[in-house]
Amino acid sequence: MSERNIVIMPGDGIGKGVLPEALRILDAVGFSANYIHADIGWEFWCKEGDPLPQRTIDLLTEHRLSLFGAITSKPKDQAVRELDPELQDKGHVYYSPIVGLRQHFKLDLCIRPCHSFRGNPLNYVRRINDSITEPEIDVVIFRQNTEGLYAGVEWTNPPDEIRSAFEIHPKMAAFNSTPSEDLAISCRIFTRKACHRIVLEAFKHAQKFGYKSVTICEKPNVIRETSGMLRGEALKIATDFPEIQLWHTNIDAQMMWLNKNPEDYGVIVSGNMFGDIVSDAFAGLVGGLGFAYSANIGEDCAIFEPTHGSAPKYEELDPPIVNPIAMILTACLMLEHLDEIEMAKRIRNAIGDVIAEGKVRTYDMMRLVGGPDVIKQGAASTHKMTDAILEKL
Ligand code: NAI
Ligand code: MG
Repeated sequence: MSERNIVIMPGDGIGKGVLPEALRILDAVGFSANYIHADIGWEFWCKEGDPLPQRTIDLLTEHRLSLFGAITSKPKDQAVRELDPELQDKGHVYYSPIVGLRQHFKLDLCIRPCHSFRGNPLNYVRRINDSITEPEIDVVIFRQNTEGLYAGVEWTNPPDEIRSAFEIHPKMAAFNSTPSEDLAISCRIFTRKACHRIVLEAFKHAQKFGYKSVTICEKPNVIRETSGMLRGEALKIATDFPEIQLWHTNIDAQMMWLNKNPEDYGVIVSGNMFGDIVSDAFAGLVGGLGFAYSANIGEDCAIFEPTHGSAPKYEELDPPIVNPIAMILTACLMLEHLDEIEMAKRIRNAIGDVIAEGKVRTYDMMRLVGGPDVIKQGAASTHKMTDAILEKL
């Protein structure tokens, strides 16, 4: 078999620190690939006026598989100030390179597994009378990544022709007396194609990994058209998967239930905005940013990334203190995507062993405030955590 090429984009801040840790783990399980470095992030915005240089897009177009660390984004005015003086006033406008990647490569599926490791002190626990239990949470959220409220079709002070078009809808009568300059409109756009694809992929995932249910988490009783379209596609697709139950929840009720019975859910499917919300909420039940990771998957390109950002305040710390587990789990998700299920399982088991043993914990797992002192307070450094996982492998 020819060797795989994987584009690695460490990006900024702690992205640069955690990505190499994941590669150490991939090496240790015998996964072999050519890793091809690509430039992305703040550094390239400042030096070149583009946080996502064309050469990086070319590498991704060629190899279509990538591990990404994190990038730094800053507000518009600050972005302009930090631009190389030679590039100022040349019309460069900052944009988020990860959002740019999702759009350019049509990475329409965002997959976010939220799986608790037994003994993680950050886990959701339940108290019944005087006893505390730690239910095992194993949820995978499929979030539509390119449409919905994030499609970007919106106006403040909509042009007259837009306003007139909207006024064809009888419900716009409620806004008749609002001047356009006091009107902001953001459109929630769903396509049947995207609804079909995300539900189908969610059911296939449930089948492959033995989940008993797929839950469509939306709000079809109120947002009838868009939520309704996702629901409709789900009802059709579910008939091809009789062994998997199809459940429907409303996003608001789901947020309550995930604090009550999170262990009951398997695969969850949502549009872009509700998927963003419900995935962060579930991530909080299984350890938060040190454990949260995701895949952005299109029909011919896949990019895997931890959920956290570049945490610039920890960038310079020596030794680095952030938890590498989110990035290592990101690599596991890539392995599963490549059907290297056994390798991914070995890594997850090794992480589980380290956590269950409880001897090696990064500062977040000890609920410490991050800073140079955490090592003295008994927290493991980033490398130490990886070393502990390597030892279990
Ligand atoms: P952040 O995720 O970088 O950090 C928030 C806090 O979470 C950190 O200060 C730290 O306390 C904790 N944290 C994050 N990762 C951790 C880890 N692996 N282990 C332990 N603790 C961890 O988010 P923040 O501070 O809002 O943003 C910092 C920069 O990152 C910004 O420029 C932002 O735009 C960017 N960002 C980039 C993302 C991406 O690359 N996909 C996602 C989120 C933010
Ligand atoms: Mg989010």
